[in-house]
Amino acid sequence: MNRAFSTDEALRQREYIEKVRAITLEKEKRLGRKLRFHVETLGCQMNAKDSEKLSGILREIGYLEEEREEEADFVLYNTCTVRENANLKIYGRLGYLHSVKKRKNPEMKIGICGCMMQEPDEVQAIREKYRFVSLVFGTHNIFKLAELMYRMETEEGMIIDVWEGTDEIVEDLPAIRKYSFKSGVNIMYGCNNFCSYCIVPYVRGRERSRLPEDILSEIRALAEDGVKEVMLLGQNVNSYGKTLENPVSFSELLRRVAAVEGIERVRFMTSHPKDLSDELIAVIAENEKICRHFHLPLQSGSSRILEKMNRHYTKEQYLDIVRRLREAVPDISITTDIIVGFPGETEEDFLETMDVVQKVRYDSAFTFIYSKRTGTPAEKMPDQVPEDVVKDRFDRLLREVQRIGQEVSGRDVGRVLPVLVEDVNRQDSTMVSGRLSNNTLVHFKGSNALTGTIVPVKLVESKGFYYIGEAVR
Ligand code: 5AD
Ligand code: SF4
Repeated sequence: MNRAFSTDEALRQREYIEKVRAITLEKEKRLGRKLRFHVETLGCQMNAKDSEKLSGILREIGYLEEEREEEADFVLYNTCTVRENANLKIYGRLGYLHSVKKRKNPEMKIGICGCMMQEPDEVQAIREKYRFVSLVFGTHNIFKLAELMYRMETEEGMIIDVWEGTDEIVEDLPAIRKYSFKSGVNIMYGCNNFCSYCIVPYVRGRERSRLPEDILSEIRALAEDGVKEVMLLGQNVNSYGKTLENPVSFSELLRRVAAVEGIERVRFMTSHPKDLSDELIAVIAENEKICRHFHLPLQSGSSRILEKMNRHYTKEQYLDIVRRLREAVPDISITTDIIVGFPGETEEDFLETMDVVQKVRYDSAFTFIYSKRTGTPAEKMPDQVPEDVVKDRFDRLLREVQRIGQEVSGRDVGRVLPVLVEDVNRQDSTMVSGRLSNNTLVHFKGSNALTGTIVPVKLVESKGFYYIGEAVR
């Protein structure tokens, strides 16, 4: 990465922010009201983080945030394309939004960005069939939003700006945090793993790590601003830093982040089993600030399928990692991602997955039906599994995951554990909700004043996936 260039770019974008702000003010005068934006986020934590950056820029150019997309003057969809149904959902939503635009607010502008726009076929579809869309961009140039808004306001027709890839990391632009006390922090972008079913390496590009000093200064600033919990984000955090000029391991980064004054909790997402080091396990074990939660995607329990998935570990190696993790950190919660119905998956392969689920006893698992993605190696593999067979396996897996999850999640009943309070309970305003270090949700009596604080709570009752507790004074 060329840092000087990136700083120049940030300055250039700040100039565009000023230019668009002037346009916003003019429009406000003409309409006699403030302009509003709505960013709709689909997909993973990375997208959520990107949306915070997009929202930050929109606020700087003078827009107010609006919860209901129907009421907004600028609606931006930040899309996901990891599974096909995410794409279908977007097209449905766009159709609906078009009718709102025609009916209620002809001045409404609609933008679409994120992973789905990195696929040329999807951009083509928008260009041809969704001509009411004003702005299209991808994952690599979100920092350019102000410039793109400027073009949208001053040029005719749909503005499309999708980059195939980039080495650039542009920082120091405004961002809004959804929560005052916790924040995601990107430590790397992209993915080099090319799991054979996955579209992410094609839409998010090659792996690029941020410099440790940039990450640490961002986290110090967050801590000064009252943030207590950070989530370090990357597609494969375990390979963090390998491509830096002065390589720094993820374990070392984690150690330094946990040492930042004011930061009470550190989480990270996602870890690929193939790169998980003993050093990482040791750092977690030594450091109470690192949360007792490990998300370790399994994908399949069959070594044969894992090989076809290009995952670089076997069932036995996976189970061994789990054993070592639990040995070093006995109270750790383990969660996972599992795909059912990968091409060629037999009943025996599926039973291997069930076997791992029963051996590991996950706190929870995200289970997915395999979705064929254009351009991935798995798209062309023979023996795609029939839909009814997949559905049956999926249902059996889900039942087992839920049964075990309920048993496992209640294991801390009776203990007093620290809870970081996140908000007032939606159903019952006399209660607040927060999370344990292991990420389990806890509800207990309390007021909004507790939001953002860490409270010792006695876990009185387990309700399957959450606890009811009592604050201990
Ligand atoms: N089909 C189904 N699930 C997928 N995932 C990634 N690609 C696909 C696909 N083509 C799942 C994996 C990954 C999670 C984020 O999404 O389990 O860990
Ligand atoms: Fe996709 Fe595999 Fe990269 Fe995760 S590690 S983003 S599943 S290619």
